[in-house]
Amino acid sequence: MTTTNRGGGSWRSAAYLTLIAVVAATAAGLTALLTNIFERKAEQREPYVRLVEVGENDTDPTIWGKNWPAQYDSYKRTAQLTKTRFGGHQGSETLPEEKIVRDPWLKRMFNGYAFSIDYRDRRGHAYMLYDQEQTKRLTKPQSGSCLHCHAALMPLYRELGGGDAMKGFEESFKFSYQDLNAKLHDSGHAHPVSCVDCHDPADMSLRITRPGFIRGIQALAASDAPVPALASIQVWRDGSRRDPYDPNRDASRNEMRSYVCGQCHVEYYCANKMPLTFPWGKGLTADAIEAFWDATIFPNGEAFFDYTHAETGAPVLKAQHPEFELWNQGIHARSGVSCADCHMPYVREGATKISDHWVRSPLLNVNRACQTCHRTSEDELKMRADVIQQRNYELLERGGVAIVALIDAVIDAKAKGVAPETLDAALRLQRRAQWRLDFIAAENSMGFHAPQEAARVLGEAIDYARQGEIVLLRGTTAPRTDAGSGPTTDAVADAGTR
Ligand code: HEC
Ligand code: HEC
Ligand code: HEC
Ligand code: HEC
Ligand code: HEC
Repeated sequence: MTTTNRGGGSWRSAAYLTLIAVVAATAAGLTALLTNIFERKAEQREPYVRLVEVGENDTDPTIWGKNWPAQYDSYKRTAQLTKTRFGGHQGSETLPEEKIVRDPWLKRMFNGYAFSIDYRDRRGHAYMLYDQEQTKRLTKPQSGSCLHCHAALMPLYRELGGGDAMKGFEESFKFSYQDLNAKLHDSGHAHPVSCVDCHDPADMSLRITRPGFIRGIQALAASDAPVPALASIQVWRDGSRRDPYDPNRDASRNEMRSYVCGQCHVEYYCANKMPLTFPWGKGLTADAIEAFWDATIFPNGEAFFDYTHAETGAPVLKAQHPEFELWNQGIHARSGVSCADCHMPYVREGATKISDHWVRSPLLNVNRACQTCHRTSEDELKMRADVIQQRNYELLERGGVAIVALIDAVIDAKAKGVAPETLDAALRLQRRAQWRLDFIAAENSMGFHAPQEAARVLGEAIDYARQGEIVLLRGTTAPRTDAGSGPTTDAVADAGTR
């Protein structure tokens, strides 16, 4: 080629030179661009300069805030008052409104338990320790385990367990709330949920710290309950099972975006007869958890119950905020939508996006919380959520009427000298009805996290309450009709053998 084309050499070499120049310029440009992209990538991966070292005992978020000021600033905003129709809180800044005053049937249902003394709306994370210290429920003896979900307390668990947090956790239920709370304050570590509870200080990755969750999710994995929304559990089940399921080793990053919340937003046992327990050994549905409690025996040999109903004498269960469990039954969980997607959506901060640590109702934030996935107008999305919540609310209130009717019927029947077997059958049905009603009442999304499941559970609650009345009216020991494919009469009978 060089020999045959020699004649056109001069313009050609000019062209080559130009080409080389262009290539060089492009390459330089490209290099600059790539460098820029890499820098931005790096910026997104580690959008901070570590100004201070943080470690396992740094429960004070202000220290972490020096390295991650944007996350810290949004975290601090959980101290602001927020309010939606069913979320955030009503009432004053001093203390949220009493739920048991707004819904008197709740007070009636909890008669005999501390929740009938004081039970308020929840509010932002900044208040969790304060609100716990203020509640009049502490006028009854409460256990040190209460702190598991209301403070950054891993250093305290390590202290109690001589360096072993799991051991410290197992000791904590033996303390009175007041004693352990005083220890927490003496340690100088008393803060509400903090960075160290969800993040590994070494690399800021998400991690689980709470022993209650670790124990609970291990038991769930070891069971054969279906967990379609938690794929890593199935992977673990299909593996060798040599070591127990470990969320910090086995869970996907996306699962961790819900697990960190599942450390606290769950149903639990927390009193002084045994360590704090997350009841997931038979599954995460209301029915599975009920079956778990029904099969639980306290170390003293007594069958499990939370309290004796003061008016009827039924040994009943108390449900606590099962957000993680109900979310698990819904279409969002099944589609891989995590708690953080809706409650901590991304927000732009200069060149980077950060996760909004102002954890609150997504309905205050539909634009970032929902419209990233749903190409529907903000008004329409709010309306859809409201329709779900309104339907749930109506069914819930209907359930409230039904449970009060059953309690009244029991009192009436007792006054008339009802046969013990009939009374016993009615009390078993009260336990079943109350458990379901409370499960959805205590869950804080007003049905949104899994609308159809919430309706199913409430439908059963109403049915069991009315069956209880029928039993008393007819003076029989068994309800006239059973709940179809639902729990059998045998299971009803088992529930009452205490
Ligand atoms: C698809 C979005 C979505 C997902 C995923 C989701 N939530 Fe929610 N959550 C909502 C909506 C909507 C409400 C109702 C808020 C309201 O009534 O103002 C809500 C309510 C709540 C509330 C009460 C909020 C308040 O302001 O009182 C809590 C607590 C909560 N969710 C926790 C969780 C937890 C924990 C998870 C994961 C296990 C989760 N949510 C998953 C959308 C979601
Ligand atoms: C260490 C336990 C703990 C962890 C972890 C935790 N929460 Fe909470 N959360 C609480 C407590 C306790 C409250 C109620 C505080 C109060 O009322 O004083 C609360 C309140 C809330 C509220 C109500 C806020 C409001 O403004 O009314 C929402 C929403 C919420 N949490 C969602 C989440 C989500 C989502 C996660 C995971 C990213 C999470 N929480 C992790 C314990 C926890
Ligand atoms: C497994 C975690 C967990 C444990 C254990 C726990 N809480 Fe909470 N607590 C929460 C969450 C989550 C909320 C916010 C959701 C709600 O209010 O339903 C909350 C809310 C509260 C509130 C504010 C709303 C209300 O109920 O009036 C008080 C007070 C409270 N807890 C006291 C206690 C006491 C006392 C104990 C011990 C008996 C305890 N908590 C144990 C997780 C927990
Ligand atoms: C209740 C759990 C929880 C607490 C407490 C918490 N974070 Fe996070 N944080 C998250 C979640 C969830 C993400 C999203 C991580 C992901 O998707 O991998 C996140 C992400 C981050 C990231 C990565 C960048 C980003 O914004 O997505 C940083 C940095 C961070 N948090 C800093 C903090 C700091 C600082 C604190 C304390 C002031 C804190 N976090 C408290 C749950 C928490
Ligand atoms: C990360 C993506 C994502 C986010 C964020 C998200 N959704 Fe969804 N949503 C989905 C998916 C996926 C489905 C299932 C629909 C399907 O598969 O066609 C769904 C379903 C729904 C449904 C139908 C529910 C049902 O039970 O049939 C409603 C209503 C809804 N979303 C509202 C909301 C609202 C309100 C928010 C914000 C609080 C929100 N979504 C946030 C992805 C998301």
